[in-house]
Amino acid sequence: MDIRLFKPSVGDEELESIRQVFNKAWLGLGPKVGEFEKKWSEYIGCAESVGVNSCTAALHLALSAFKFTKGKKVLVPVVTFAATAMAVLYNGLIPVFVDVDETTFGISMEDLERKYDQDCVAVIPVHFMGHPIPMDQLISWAKLRGLKVIEDTAHSAGGQYKGKSLGTWGDIGCFSFEEKKCMTTGDGGMISSQDPELLRPLRHSRWVGINKDTWERYEENASYHADANSWYYEISDVGYKYNMNDLMASIGLIQLTKLDAMNRRREAIIGKYVAGLSGGIYVRPAIPYHLQDSSYWAFVVRVKEREQFILHMKKKGVATGVHYMPLTMHPLFAPYAAETPNADTLWRELVTLPLFPDLKDEEIAYVLESVHTYAP
Ligand SMILES: Cc1ncc(COP(=O)(O)O)c(C=O)c1O
Repeated sequence: MDIRLFKPSVGDEELESIRQVFNKAWLGLGPKVGEFEKKWSEYIGCAESVGVNSCTAALHLALSAFKFTKGKKVLVPVVTFAATAMAVLYNGLIPVFVDVDETTFGISMEDLERKYDQDCVAVIPVHFMGHPIPMDQLISWAKLRGLKVIEDTAHSAGGQYKGKSLGTWGDIGCFSFEEKKCMTTGDGGMISSQDPELLRPLRHSRWVGINKDTWERYEENASYHADANSWYYEISDVGYKYNMNDLMASIGLIQLTKLDAMNRRREAIIGKYVAGLSGGIYVRPAIPYHLQDSSYWAFVVRVKEREQFILHMKKKGVATGVHYMPLTMHPLFAPYAAETPNADTLWRELVTLPLFPDLKDEEIAYVLESVHTYAP
């Protein structure tokens, strides 16, 4: 057996959708992006969405929407992918690293209270592996302190908490469609909000600061502009080349129709894993997986002697991963290190096992069998 860790679930329907874009021969930022943004907003239940080329870009632009004074602080969990904290640095702000909850690996509400001070302007919760942060508690805590909430929803496309889509609880939600995530556009991301005014400037920021994208000008020229001025555009602010393009959107439109089914399949696989691990001594589920309306993109276990276990699985032909080393262990973020005792000890036990919708039942059984033959 040779079982990989992640695998995007893409096929003929996505290819057909790409073919249509090829036939139209408009591959860049264009009508497909607009269509995907609209469908995405409808799907998660928000007012407005802006398609970008990654969640990293989404987080960068989302924070920039508030025009925070440089040097202010943003609270971020210490166990997350680099992009969460990188977006804080991109904006000239200071990351304040908050410890994680020992059960869920989400940002710790107790430590948030400890780390908060008057210079904090925002908090970026991450739904670790898709496990929802108790957003009702977090939002009321943040609102009381006047903090903006940017949800890093990279791990949780299609997930819900208390019947409301993840990514719609905070002021802005940022999604990832990178190839390993719940759904994919190759690379890609989405910025979503209930407040269209907040996102309006970000449409320009994602397109090098230009106030009209090429498709808009093309349409003006082709249809209703009587004069020659449709070439004209203005740039008032610094912008970035962060746009989603029609090729990505054409894949996203198909993936969106499969997202619920893919999330249900991941739930079923996790259900088998959790049942199969029960009673085992050395390997146990890392978090209390709630297998309803969930959006887990990865399956994580806790193992005391992690390195031995990883080697054992490798010999069996089962790929594993580690998500994530606390960010303050990286040289870039080390100067911002603060006390995060849960993260410092618990991350050493984390191991990610194979999870993707096309994982076959016999492969799941083989992964479990391989886990069961492990003894330190
Ligand atoms: C928590 C988190 N935030 C943000 C990102 C960035 O996503 P992207 O790869 O789309 O830039 C990732 C990617 O893995 C992530 O895990």
